[in-house]
Amino acid sequence: MKKYKWGILAPGKMSAKFANGLKVLPNAELYAVGSRSIERARKFALDHGFKKSYGTYEELAADPEVDVIYIASPHSFHFEHTMLCLRNGKAVICEKAFGINSREVETMINEAEKRGIFLMEALWPPFQPFYKKASEILESGILGEVKHLHGYFSFIPPFDPADRKFNVSLGGGSLLDIGIYPVIDALTFLGIPDDIRAVALFSETGSEESVSAVFRYNNRCLASVYSSFSTNVGIGCDILCRNGNMTVSRGRDMNQRVILSLQGREKQEYVFTPEALGYHWEAEEVMKCLNENKLESSIVPHAFSINLIRTLDRIRQSAGIHFPQDN
Ligand SMILES: NC(=O)c1ccc[n+]([C@@H]2O[C@H](COP(=O)([O-])OP(=O)(O)OC[C@H]3O[C@@H](n4cnc5c(N)ncnc54)[C@H](OP(=O)(O)O)[C@@H]3O)[C@@H](O)[C@H]2O)c1
Repeated sequence: MKKYKWGILAPGKMSAKFANGLKVLPNAELYAVGSRSIERARKFALDHGFKKSYGTYEELAADPEVDVIYIASPHSFHFEHTMLCLRNGKAVICEKAFGINSREVETMINEAEKRGIFLMEALWPPFQPFYKKASEILESGILGEVKHLHGYFSFIPPFDPADRKFNVSLGGGSLLDIGIYPVIDALTFLGIPDDIRAVALFSETGSEESVSAVFRYNNRCLASVYSSFSTNVGIGCDILCRNGNMTVSRGRDMNQRVILSLQGREKQEYVFTPEALGYHWEAEEVMKCLNENKLESSIVPHAFSINLIRTLDRIRQSAGIHFPQDN
């Protein structure tokens, strides 16, 4: 079994969760960490058992031993950091949102394809058992025609104008941070919307604080997508159908749930509790693809990432949400 040497670029909160995922994979070697600060790189390496630490991202990308790099900088740097790693010949898995806008994402994907290098957006839901269960139930037809999807993700972070969640130049706002999840739900369970209308509220830094979007599908189906940093609803979606409803959610206990309510029948609940919060499956898929010399994953194909960022662009356009990188 080939062992892959992993590099972590930008050792923040999400990188710690991803590193915990790598620890449960026997073919993953926790090899190197690159930070803007050598002290932070060394601390992360020590905390998680990585061998090497670098005080710049460039040094990490240039290390000839590194096979694959996980990128978890703020969204506004995903383009720059992915391009850096690709130009150094490294396979890349980069956090959502993959880029700030579709221009960035399409350029990243073209670069990877041109160079023949593996690239994948780090999307958590498609790998999770609750998502697979929900798709299975919908495909079985038991719920009948899908008429409406209501997807939501909100929590209240402490307000800090410098934080990536509120700083517009870092891609701040709820949409790219958490609103992306109900959008993934709608794309996965219903497909690409035919029409989108959205409105947003803004924080005192000018970053979007809450956004509500309605999707219309030509097959007489609607979706409403809500994200916010000013309420505490958690994450999930309700799928309303002719013969009943289904709730697909991750609870505050981190357990994944699918609740099926069919008319005239007792509710059925499916609960899943994956190890490492289910993050290891993304890394496992990357290494499987590398073993098979694949340039993209069939679970998160490039086409899905393009559809996702284009949908996010359409929501932003409708709601008047702008980033400096759009100019
Ligand atoms: N898939 C998921 O479930 C999930 C969950 C949470 C977050 N995420 C994604 O992961 C990414 C990182 O989120 P996070 O919560 O880990 O953020 P975070 O804790 O703030 O970490 C981001 C890291 O990026 C680096 N960085 C580079 N330039 C920066 C700048 N100008 N300002 C601030 N940090 C900068 C910093 O590391 P150094 O300075 O040490 O290099 C920092 O630790 C985001 O794109 C987010 O959407 C995904």
